Amino acid sequence: MEVIIQPTYAQLVAVSAEIIRGALLKKPNLVLGLATGSTPIGLYEALARMHKTEGLDFSAVTTFNLDEYVGIPRSHPYSYHTFMETHFFNAVNIPAENRHIPQSTAVEHEEFCELYEAAIVNAGGIDIQVLGIGKDGHIGFNEPSSSLGSRTRIKTLTQGTLEANAPHFGGTVDAVPKMAITMGVGTIMEAKQCLLLANGESKAEAIAHAVEGPITAEVPASVLQMHPRTVVIIDEEAASQLKRVAYYKQVYANKQKLLSGGYYDKS
Ligand code: PGA
Repeated sequence: MEVIIQPTYAQLVAVSAEIIRGALLKKPNLVLGLATGSTPIGLYEALARMHKTEGLDFSAVTTFNLDEYVGIPRSHPYSYHTFMETHFFNAVNIPAENRHIPQSTAVEHEEFCELYEAAIVNAGGIDIQVLGIGKDGHIGFNEPSSSLGSRTRIKTLTQGTLEANAPHFGGTVDAVPKMAITMGVGTIMEAKQCLLLANGESKAEAIAHAVEGPITAEVPASVLQMHPRTVVIIDEEAASQLKRVAYYKQVYANKQKLLSGGYYDKS
């Protein structure tokens, strides 16, 4: 696992946006897996700025979102469909037909979930999956105890997740949808690269368990230790419970040196 620790959220965003920019310049028809929540908002703003100021082109990009609540219309102000329009899609040129978000109103859930998985495969698989992390270590809406091999399906949200999302639903837990469609942990693990982003003290424990703890369904993000190309990009606060901070910083500094050619003896 590559762990990149940045002093601030703004710098964390800059590093993650640069990874996506680099990948998109190499592969214009990039397939992006996208996350909602407060963490990736700065990343979407940075990518939108790149689109506006330097013409970074998203016209051949395909996207797949991780999850969506079940039981609220797409037009609900706090649906993830609305979130993506507001924070990203309205500001870049990804064709509408290339954007995929699980369908919150699908009645035939099982069939829908299978079709969603098939659409990812048909698109050639996800090149880069953006992930946030819940305080309980969830990725997507894969709550603790989710099978580490799970596929896209409906999950019941934990009380903690309902409470974390209550501010978006008028402050009352009762108003938060109790279920969500989410890509499975196994689905996420098939992405060619994962970018796990986290900032703030409230994520420190989850990050410590995910990065340095045992691999366990109790902390679904911990399975990313088995992923060959996961980059964890976090700020100092989210890194504050990690044991190997000095080593991660050394690894990152050496990688920058290698990439710039500065590591080699030029004689
Ligand atoms: P957040 O949510 O980015 O709003 O903290 C992350 C998550 O729960 O997956």
